[in-house]
Formats: sequence, C-alpha cells, structure tokens
Amino acid sequence: MSHFAYQDGVLHADGASLSAIAEQFGTPTYVYSKAALLENFAAYADACAGRDALVCYAMKANSNLAILDLLARQGAGFDIVSGGELLRVVAAGGDPRKVIFSGVGKSVAEMRLALEHDILCFNVESIPELHRLNEVAGAMGKTARVSLRVNPNVDAKTHPYIATGLKASKFGVAFDDALATYRAAAALPHLAVAGIDCHIGSQLLDDAPLLEALDRLIELIDALGREGIVLHHLDIGGGIGISYGEAGEDAPVPVGDYLGRLFQRIDAWRAANHGGRPIKVIFEPGRSIVGNTGVLLTKVEFIKHGEEKNFCVVDAAMNDMARPALYQAWMDMRPVVESDTPALSYDVVGPICESGDWLARDRALAVQSGDLLVMLQAGAYGMTMASNYNTRGRAAEVIVDGAQCHLVRRRETPAELFALETLIK
Ligand code: LLP
Repeated sequence: MSHFAYQDGVLHADGASLSAIAEQFGTPTYVYSKAALLENFAAYADACAGRDALVCYAMKANSNLAILDLLARQGAGFDIVSGGELLRVVAAGGDPRKVIFSGVGKSVAEMRLALEHDILCFNVESIPELHRLNEVAGAMGKTARVSLRVNPNVDAKTHPYIATGLKASKFGVAFDDALATYRAAAALPHLAVAGIDCHIGSQLLDDAPLLEALDRLIELIDALGREGIVLHHLDIGGGIGISYGEAGEDAPVPVGDYLGRLFQRIDAWRAANHGGRPIKVIFEPGRSIVGNTGVLLTKVEFIKHGEEKNFCVVDAAMNDMARPALYQAWMDMRPVVESDTPALSYDVVGPICESGDWLARDRALAVQSGDLLVMLQAGAYGMTMASNYNTRGRAAEVIVDGAQCHLVRRRETPAELFALETLIK
C-alpha cells in the first residue's frame, strides 16, 4: 500500500500531515515512513522464511542510523562499500558479522577495520585486491572470508550509469577469468574462499537478467566444486527496481515473485546437480527497501515566467537530490495541498547556479510562491548522494511512525559546513 496519501486534501505520510511536518521541521526535509520500510523488508524476509538466506541491505541507498537500526532489528545484514559505512552499522547497533563488503577500491585501513569487526565476507573484485587482503589478514593473524564478484556479462537493460555487469564495466572479475582467480584465492594462506557474488545493475524492472546471472553463477559453482573448491554462499546482488510513477513506465516485478523464481531454480539445481549440498543465499537490495519509503518535502520560493518556460523555483536542489541532474531521472512531484486552480506547465528547479539544477521538467502544477511540494519515491539515493554544493546545509530527515514524527537528522548549519577549514597563517 502507499504510505503517502491525501487526507482531506492534504498529503500525509501515514498519520502525519506533510504541511505540519514542514511547519515543525522546515524545508527541504526528507520524510520517511517507518511502516513502508518494514513492509519492504518483510517482502524479502517473508520470501526467505525457512531458508538459509540473508538480506544484506545495500546501505548506500540510505544510511541514516535510524533506518539502519530499524532494519537491524528485523534481522537485516548490511552491504557496505566503505569503512565509514561499517562504522555506521556499528553505531546503529547492527551486527558486523552480517556485513559484506563490496567495492573495487578497498584500502588497507578499511580491510583492517573490517577484519577487526569480523565481517561475514569481503566481496573481492580483482587479483591485486586478493593479495592486499591476504597480506592484511596475515599481519593481523586472521583469515578473511572472501567471495569473488563475478561479472556474468548479462545485459541488465538499465541506465548505462547503473548497469554494472557488462564486459566494459570496472566492476568484478570477468566470467572467463573467474576459475583462475578462484584458484589464486584458494592458494593464499590467509583467505578462506566462502562464496560467489555478482551485481549486474540497479533499477531492473524485470528479473530475467537476474535469473540469467544466477544460472551463470551456478555454472561456476559446479565447475569449482569439481576442482574441490566448495562455496558456502551465493550472493545475487541487489537490483530489483521500483515504480517511479512515470506515464508508460513498466511495472517492476514484485519482490516475492522474483525471489520465488530464484529459489525455485536454486532448489532444482541443488536437487539435480549439487548433491543437495546446502548453500546460503544472500541478497543486497537497496532501492527496493527504501526507495518508496521517502519523499523530499520542499517549499516554492518563486514562480518565474521565462520566455519559453515557466519555472517553479523551490528550496530543494540538485545538492539534495542528484538523480535528475545525474541520470535525467524522472521523479514524481506533487503538491502537498490539493488545489482546483488551473495547472500550468513548469520546470521545477533549485537555487543552485547550474542549468543542470532541476528536479522535474514539464510538469502540470497549480502552484504559487509559499506552497509546498513533494518529490515522491525519494527514499533511495537521495540523502546519501546529497552534497554541500553552494554551501547549502543538507536537508533534515524525519521518520514518521504512525502519527508520530521523529527528527532523525537535523539540518546542517552553515557554521558546521566550514568548521573543518582553517585559514593559512
Ligand atoms: N550491491 C552492489 C554491489 C551495488 O553496487 C548496489 C548498487 C547494490 C547492491 C544495490 O542496488 P539496488 O538494489 O539499490 O538496485 N545512484 C544510482 C544507483 C546506483 C546503484 C549503485 N549500486 C541511482 O540513484 O539510481
């Protein structure tokens, strides 16, 4: 169900009015629904019930501590890409032994930190990384559990910036090099080969490419098994997309359907070829956990009628939500208070000094200065990609629980933005 709906003409997040939230916390503010978050996580957890499976939330999508805490309490693990993200998991009370560490450029310090916290697995992306990790673990007297991120060369049919499983991608180990890379890993004394992983891209609306990637991983697991390299887990990455509400857009496959099909294939393979040997299945969903749980609440500063276009200048900008500027992403914009006045076509733009600073283009809106708007489906890759460009403090974040509103990140002040800087003497 949608957790953002109009009640008596005013858009609400569950039981809380977005007008009241704007009044209390100011704008721009990200507003998240706790119930939506739990519902999205449950879609994965329910489909995994009774199985050896772990949902490692890809926290790059939204790493607010309160969100991590809510998910950790549901039993989530976490997919991290930096030492900073690991420290967030720890600060939120998450279990580092349910953490997997992705990314092509892990530093020595990050490897050390992750080994100190005894994380579940390093998703390794190259031979030099294997050697570095082996050295770091050896020096600490530890063994690092590793998985190789294999590039299954599957076309995910998504935006080129977020398709990651193709041959030309910087990510992963080429499918054809995978066996040799596993042999190299197995020969290193301070590494324990634990699993295999892939991530073919983000915002995939169809699960066919994911199931194709699964088949390729299974092929490798069988080939490795024949050489005596036994894998204990299979990590299919993140990737199922969400509906952004654009006219004509394809509907995403429901999470339960995708997981059902995936487990069916795994069960059939285990029964037929894998000797029934158990294998843990790991997922790394980001967007499908948080995307539709959040909106970006913003106020109209000015209405400006240009020569060719009408502009609705709001107080949120590309520094708050970069997806339109970066990927030409279509994001739904709605007024907080419904109105009967005739709509005009507007480009919704922010105050930043760049033509690329837009949030939505050619939208029919009935708006005037002082009105509130929301950008819907802004819960994933919104706040985590925010910057301080133009010395703009990042937005506040509020979680709504029923009718109760919790400020889970206050707005940054200008003084905080330059507090780390010094003048030269
Ligand atoms: N695992 C790995 C290794 C990843 O690189 C990603 C996302 C995920 C999991 C989570 O994927 P998801 O379930 O969210 O599709 N900023 C872009 C998306 C970048 C995705 C990067 N990797 C956007 O706003 O569309």
